[in-house]
Amino acid sequence: MPRLDLEDLLQGRKIVICCGSGGVGKTTVSAALGVQAALLGKKVLALTVDPARRLADSLGLSELGNREAPVPAERFLRHGKNPAGSLHAMMLDTKRTFDELIERYAPDETVASNIMQNQFYQHLSSAMTGSHEYLAMEKLYQIHLDGRYDLIVLDTPPTKHALDFLEAPNRVRAFFDRSISQWFLKPYLTMGRLSLNLFNRTAGTVLRLVERFTGAEFLHDVSEFVTGLADSFDIFRSRAEEVMHVLRGEETTFLLVTAADRGSLGEAAYFYDRIRKASLPFGGIIANRFHAFPLPDESGPPPRDRDESREAMLAALTRRRGLPPPVARQLVENFDRYLGLALRDRDALHAFTQRSPGRIPLLTVPAFDEDIFDIGGLLKMNEYLFPAPS
Ligand SMILES: Nc1ncnc2c1ncn2[C@@H]1O[C@H](COP(=O)(O)OP(=O)(O)O)[C@@H](O)[C@H]1O
Ligand SMILES: [Mg+2]
Repeated sequence: MPRLDLEDLLQGRKIVICCGSGGVGKTTVSAALGVQAALLGKKVLALTVDPARRLADSLGLSELGNREAPVPAERFLRHGKNPAGSLHAMMLDTKRTFDELIERYAPDETVASNIMQNQFYQHLSSAMTGSHEYLAMEKLYQIHLDGRYDLIVLDTPPTKHALDFLEAPNRVRAFFDRSISQWFLKPYLTMGRLSLNLFNRTAGTVLRLVERFTGAEFLHDVSEFVTGLADSFDIFRSRAEEVMHVLRGEETTFLLVTAADRGSLGEAAYFYDRIRKASLPFGGIIANRFHAFPLPDESGPPPRDRDESREAMLAALTRRRGLPPPVARQLVENFDRYLGLALRDRDALHAFTQRSPGRIPLLTVPAFDEDIFDIGGLLKMNEYLFPAPS
């Protein structure tokens, strides 16, 4: 497999998006990339989702969300580093982003606040799968357009829906194009319910039916929502298309973070296929908590010889090194267990990379003894993400 060269990748990019399932190390890797890019002289923003408490504290993230905060240079100096660039961090609050969007597009404040308090809006904003994920991209795009950073690293939410934003432009279009808003609501809005009964018996009957099932309140909510936002739909939609354009562009790269076991790699395969299908620029895969192969010969002993090599090791440790047999046995057992994990990870990764043989840039990071919660830990991770050329 080609080695994933992150330093090279960061040089040419303005947006790095880390995706993958929950708990695999996405947030940690995103923060580590941010740290390294700042050391390399870039002005960086790490846009993060649900960081572990201690990491959030070390990055100086407030609980308020949606606000950029500089990571004080002192946090770097403590670990003997002086960044040539700078690192900002921000916790993403997608609900707030949705509201900001409404505030921007609504014709005035009253309409904006009507919309936000509207039950239908609240329902829609949570029911549209992927809308929150889309809004993460919307926020990313806003900041990208502002142009205040050389690089934005985005950490995505820990769900399978994280890539549902890809369908957002289509979903927005489908929603508003649907006949319900065309012939169903328009007459309702323009003529009012009573006149509808007179002028359009069919629509009137259907509406009454809908009302019976959903309640008049709901229809009122819908109509208010639609009138309030009618002119904004097109802007919203073309905006979504611009966002997708940037995400597909040369300045963006998607990194897939995964744990190295088979279960996590199975989920990573889902993300990988989706990235490819959507023609998004794929940078490579980072296999975290990887058990590197402990023997010089990477192919390792065939499983049927493992008993034999265990015995040989035991003999060597007791006879040649003079270790007491119980200690030697414990050592051999530990080693053998580790060897099992290493074989498992190697085979799982091999199976994964067979999806596109020879074409998936890959990097591995071992499991550390401790959680990673500060700049020091991130620097330790960076020894693997950015290995010195050998
Ligand atoms: N290579 C590693 N070794 C040890 N701990 C790790 C490693 N990678 C991540 N962690 C820890 O695992 C936990 C989950 O990582 P996190 O980055 O929050 O995952 P995700 O964002 O994918 O849900 C964190 O406490 C983090 O410090
Ligand atoms: Mg996370």
